[in-house]
Amino acid sequence: MQTFVKGVHHITLCPGRAQEDVDFFTQVLGQRLIKQTVLMDGTIPIYHLYYGNGDADVGSIATTFPYARKPGRIGSGQLSCTSYTVPKGATTFWKSHCDAHGAENSGIQERFGTKYIRARHPAGLLFEMIEDASDQRNPWTTKQVSRDVATRGFFGAVLSVRDIREQESFFVDALGFRKVGVDGPYHRFEVPGNGPGRNVDLHHEPDREAGSWGFGAGTAHHIAFNVESDDALVKQKAIYEELGYTDASEVKDRFYFHSMYVRSPGGILVECTANVPGGFYQDEAPEELGTKLHLPPWFEEQRAAIVSQLEPITVPEENRPKSGAGSAPRPAAAAAQKSAAEPAIPVSRTKAAFDKTKQPS
Ligand SMILES: [Fe+2]
Repeated sequence: MQTFVKGVHHITLCPGRAQEDVDFFTQVLGQRLIKQTVLMDGTIPIYHLYYGNGDADVGSIATTFPYARKPGRIGSGQLSCTSYTVPKGATTFWKSHCDAHGAENSGIQERFGTKYIRARHPAGLLFEMIEDASDQRNPWTTKQVSRDVATRGFFGAVLSVRDIREQESFFVDALGFRKVGVDGPYHRFEVPGNGPGRNVDLHHEPDREAGSWGFGAGTAHHIAFNVESDDALVKQKAIYEELGYTDASEVKDRFYFHSMYVRSPGGILVECTANVPGGFYQDEAPEELGTKLHLPPWFEEQRAAIVSQLEPITVPEENRPKSGAGSAPRPAAAAAQKSAAEPAIPVSRTKAAFDKTKQPS
């Protein structure tokens, strides 16, 4: 079959407090905070924080909605672990690094003949570092996480399902993955092609209670796969509908990309994502990524109200632009004007209409 999916684009999670999340991602996982913005749905200002590798590559981006206002329930029907690649032998470093930060971890494990280690975010979310000598992406490095051990980007993700069959059919028939192996309760699928970030492991957990689906601290919200154009989003939506997955969303304008969502049979929300010109660099220069709060142009008039309801966060030291580094930032207004232009296909935008009677997290 024709497949539009190229690999993982981003993975979206709900931690609790924003600063706790920034600290874990940057100090423990060694990620770069690459964007501060807000959730573009609903009536409550909620941060949307993006973390990535040294080049902010598609396929390295974990995004979070800090959602301390409500706990989620971890369980089946959810993305249960976010998987990064690390160089061969680096799991030994990650064991001692996690221990030094007091991060609960699994110790070094193995599946599909490859070593990995899992670590738990303070909110309960799981991450794993999987050894993969072939991943050549440019890592972000910190004082504690050097290039020889740093994460390169996503290997993929682990999804917990009570029944493999329908979720397998969804990945193979609707998204064009192929099944590449089974190791105990893990069923591995990959997108045909080359390069990293093309894997999904279904974890068969028939007796695990179902987890929650909405936003809630400690749970994953969705996984997004990269497609190359808006046209591919429209065609992917048509494939879903042809197969009976009728509840695919309209194409939404997320400013940095366009998104279309569907609830997969195992319960996991799946997004397909097409980049827009400029991507993460539309509103800040490469060396300034993540250093300020950016809003889509159609939210700007509400900036003061939005900021007043967000937890102040401290941008990590490693993120701050060094004097004399790189070029001057591009004028944000010009980039915003370009992005505000009408896309080639109809996209939906949610207006910033915040309800001041609702308390943020
Ligand atoms: Fe997303």
